[in-house]
Amino acid sequence: MVTFCDDVLAGLQLPQKSIPSKYFYDRRGSELFEEICNLKEYYIFSSEVEILTARAPELTQVTGRKCNLIELGSGSSVKTKFLLDQLESGSAYVPVDVSQELLEEVTRDLRLTYPELKIHPVAGDFCSSLGHLAEACDKRLGNALFFPGSTIGNFNPDSAEDILRRCRELAGKNGFMIIGVDLVKTKSVLEAAYNDSRGVTAAFNLNLLTRMNEELSACFDLSTFQHSAFFNEKESRIEMHLVSLNSQTIPIAGQQVHFDRDETIHTENSYKYRPEDFIKLAQKCGFSAHLGWTDSKGYFSVFILSSSSE
Ligand SMILES: C[S@@+](CC[C@H](N)C(=O)[O-])C[C@H]1O[C@@H](n2cnc3c(N)ncnc32)[C@H](O)[C@@H]1O
Repeated sequence: MVTFCDDVLAGLQLPQKSIPSKYFYDRRGSELFEEICNLKEYYIFSSEVEILTARAPELTQVTGRKCNLIELGSGSSVKTKFLLDQLESGSAYVPVDVSQELLEEVTRDLRLTYPELKIHPVAGDFCSSLGHLAEACDKRLGNALFFPGSTIGNFNPDSAEDILRRCRELAGKNGFMIIGVDLVKTKSVLEAAYNDSRGVTAAFNLNLLTRMNEELSACFDLSTFQHSAFFNEKESRIEMHLVSLNSQTIPIAGQQVHFDRDETIHTENSYKYRPEDFIKLAQKCGFSAHLGWTDSKGYFSVFILSSSSE
């Protein structure tokens, strides 16, 4: 199994230093993400909640009210409750997340709120566990995948295609996928969402250095790095980086890693789609039918994709 240490040391050897964004989500990172969701600039949360609130009955009518609901990157499962409220007893919920502590806590709470629901949490990277998730499902029920939060945007086009193809396989012949996709919009709105005035997103980004200090015996001085987030129009993605303010050499897990002044660690991409491009991608990956909704500001879309060939 590839560890945090392996990925950090490999990523910091690259010409453009980078660390996979899934490592943001240790306990503190997950708490900071919850705070981000409450920020006025972070429209992603409120826009998706607006759509799910209005469409949950319709969505679950399509998936069937008795199903296996499999969520990729479930986090606090706040948005999932709109769907769970609609499901019939005997349904199963399979939340998957790298943030194990949060997953356990959320599962405990959900078992109290939904005593009739069978909950099978899976801690780990959904990229490596997608092929095994069927084992956690009730074989007598159809599968509906839920992939909210525009987490699909964290993957480059090739990886997004690979994940969607594997989601199609997991959905099975007559399954569904409900997916939240962030849309291309004006640069000022996009950039404000990742540069909030309270500095919560900056703290979320910098927490990656704290995590390396705690778990990999690294010696980052957080005051010598700065959060940076900008819209790369050519790639249609927000990029988040940590910028080294000095030339410095940092011990990490017994190795010395050098940073030039202004050199960056690329910590996250968040791709923004045009609805028609996302639909094309979904179709290329074997999803045949779709319905989609956009919030009142036109910022965010939720699609329900069907894996059936009819
Ligand atoms: C952008 S947040 C979305 C959280 C929640 N689904 C929502 O919509 O508000 C991404 C979530 O996915 C999890 N995550 C990110 N990459 C992951 C991966 N490769 N495997 C499993 N979980 C992952 C994170 O821990 C986090 O809870």
